[in-house]
Amino acid sequence: MKILAGPSSQFLASRVAKETKCDLALVEFKKFPDGELYLRIADELDGEALIIQSTVTNDDVISLLQLIDAASDCYLRIVIPYFGYARQDKQFKPGEPISARAIARSIDADEVHLVNVHDTSTLDHFKLRSKRKAINLSAARIMGNHLRGMRFESPLLVSPDEGAVQLVQDTADAMKAEFDVLVKTRVSSEQVIIQPKHVDVDRKEVVIVDDMISTGGTMAGAIKLLKSQGAREVHVACIHPVFSQNARLLLYHSGVESIIATDTIERAESVMSVAPLIKEGLQMR
Ligand code: R5P
Repeated sequence: MKILAGPSSQFLASRVAKETKCDLALVEFKKFPDGELYLRIADELDGEALIIQSTVTNDDVISLLQLIDAASDCYLRIVIPYFGYARQDKQFKPGEPISARAIARSIDADEVHLVNVHDTSTLDHFKLRSKRKAINLSAARIMGNHLRGMRFESPLLVSPDEGAVQLVQDTADAMKAEFDVLVKTRVSSEQVIIQPKHVDVDRKEVVIVDDMISTGGTMAGAIKLLKSQGAREVHVACIHPVFSQNARLLLYHSGVESIIATDTIERAESVMSVAPLIKEGLQMR
């Protein structure tokens, strides 16, 4: 099996190649003057290919489709570490597309593996040649192990909302730390209090964990709140560091101590690799 590294996942694909002892095929990429993309697989394939490509931008989606087409004669295994448009996973208003479904349906492959996809209902939209179901891999254990290595004295993991509770619980289990979730309580028609449901954060090293940080707005609000409630330090950890607009500035302005993320999207903050998880996922067939 040869690994085809898409333009958005070159470091991660190299790490997976090292973990699995598979060769990386050479792929040439370029952009035409009108903005259209070109690629060419410059190595011979051997009947089985593994494409690794996150779809952070629209161009990344095109590159993924081009790689799939170029390798379509092979048994095709695809890893999309960050699956963009995953938050448009239902029709919120009449007339809207289910964008996650539209992209999933355009993928023609034998196997698909995603990492912490926003909602697992997206997996049902892939119609695979092998009739397998797409697989969602969770990096919670990788994140929990990394956080344990940070040797906090009195750590508390916090989910910023109900949506991330399972991820935070699994991360806390791996870290062997306690966890909590921020909840809104309406005190009066004018006043709402947001606070951890069970645990007092006073003097604790709090790590807010979420599947992704996009604009940073969710995290920035939670950081300010937890600091005002007495947290000694507030760190943030996420699987997918989307970091749109001025997310980092917003986080540091809110007083964050550190930002850590995985390499599903390759950023300076990607200190945890999901390569071992992908290797495990590929062995699941
Ligand atoms: C929401 O459903 C997600 O889990 C994240 O909480 C959200 O996407 C973060 O977005 P932002 O960084 O823009 O607040």
